[in-house]
Amino acid sequence: MDVRYFNRLDAKAQAPVAVIGIFEGEKQLPAAIESLADSLGDSVRRVVESEFKGEDGEWREVTTEGARFARVFLLGLGKTEKLTADRARRAAGNVQKKVDGLKLPAYVSYVPASLLGGSVTDTEVYRAALEGMCLASYSYRGMKTDKAPAQVEKVHVYASKANEAAGKIGQAVADGVNYSRNLINSPANFMTPTQLAEAAKKMAKEQGLKIQVWDKSRIEKERMHLLLGVAQGSVEEPRFVVMEYGKPVKGKGPLVFVGKGVTFDSGGISIKPSGGMEKMKYDMAGSAAVVGAMHNVAALKLSGHFIGIFAATENMPGGRATKPGDVHGSRAGKTIEIINTDAEGRLILADALAYAKDLKPSAVIDVATLTGACLIALGDTIGLMGNNEDLMARVKAAAEAGGERAWELPMWDEYGEGLSSDVADLKNVSGGRKAGTITAAKFLEKFTDYPWVHLDIAGAAWIEGNHPYYVKGAAGA
Ligand code: BES
Ligand code: MN
Ligand code: ZN
Repeated sequence: MDVRYFNRLDAKAQAPVAVIGIFEGEKQLPAAIESLADSLGDSVRRVVESEFKGEDGEWREVTTEGARFARVFLLGLGKTEKLTADRARRAAGNVQKKVDGLKLPAYVSYVPASLLGGSVTDTEVYRAALEGMCLASYSYRGMKTDKAPAQVEKVHVYASKANEAAGKIGQAVADGVNYSRNLINSPANFMTPTQLAEAAKKMAKEQGLKIQVWDKSRIEKERMHLLLGVAQGSVEEPRFVVMEYGKPVKGKGPLVFVGKGVTFDSGGISIKPSGGMEKMKYDMAGSAAVVGAMHNVAALKLSGHFIGIFAATENMPGGRATKPGDVHGSRAGKTIEIINTDAEGRLILADALAYAKDLKPSAVIDVATLTGACLIALGDTIGLMGNNEDLMARVKAAAEAGGERAWELPMWDEYGEGLSSDVADLKNVSGGRKAGTITAAKFLEKFTDYPWVHLDIAGAAWIEGNHPYYVKGAAGA
């Protein structure tokens, strides 16, 4: 989608549709667009003054008489004092979907009047609104062979220079998220570990990032026995990817992102039930999040040193697959008894977290579709765990600022007690099904010795139904 900014209201934008946001009880066109009022036609003013309440989500078309915009829509924004960045994100997402649904020709002018001065000149609101628009305009066509339905291709946004800059940040963020969504929605026969690494390479090239892609023999040299152990049941080779942005900062290690990249999780020999198994193509959403985050770090030219790594493999029940009871070594040197081959995410992450240690990080954030239990416990909310309260609080706040929700689960030592093995240093699952999200995190914790946050996105990564700015499929969490 092509977004153009106009810093002046008299810009000669000719378009079939205008959307005007009205706050609850406002009862008049926002002052900032008074100069547009004539070209909107009398009927718009009349409806705003008499009938339109401006309640959150209210949506109404007003017929105009030969005015500049053929169709004018009013959008209710609710009470002024209740406007938050997230509400702007949702409102903009809803509008985008509605206008897309009109199946109009390409050129659409979008005038969110609420965002034109008045009480809301906040750049955060612009940023969130553009994010919402760009996230909502995403669609994944995949392998469909029929013609794509018409969608809005051009959007005009009236904004001051400062708000334009903020809007562009929102666009860049959404681009990174949408990049991730594409990777996740791709069928697993296309998005193999090799292809996932290729996609990361392509992104790195576009954004000017350094990247290394390790093949199987390099992974062997790096002693990533757990990653190899998961991969050995598949004919697809594993990959390990390291992306880097920025230069080392003196006295301060890099911020490291770590992703789970299981491009398909059948469960392995501990095979999953067939119902819903097709969705396990999204088990690489953590690595897609890392690719998207590195995209955004580069696109926004952040200062600092960032390293994004992910381990990519399939989890398949082939003839050479790891069997329950098998023991593997690991990069960290610990031996692991594999009780359940479906608990594969923590295994590949353990090797990745051990590698992260060599980077002397100031902090590590891992992102993984790690446990079905997280989906049961928290639904679409991200499960947040870690070993450093301050880092956890900052990540939680950042998630919220981005319109995502993360919630902390406790990491008391007792939760890790079931992980001891009779034959190895550790086993990969603890006894029963209790607190599965936390026991998985306790396993990961054993491979960290730096400030660390673990984000379980099993529920957050995939959207099942209606949402203001996502569509069914990958959320790009
Ligand atoms: N990839 C799954 C977790 C998952 C389940 C993600 C549903 C998204 C939706 C993970 O590899 C897995 O299978 N975890 C097991 C762990 C168990 C064997 C201890 C699970 O959650 O059942
Ligand atoms: Mn699994
Ligand atoms: Zn998995």
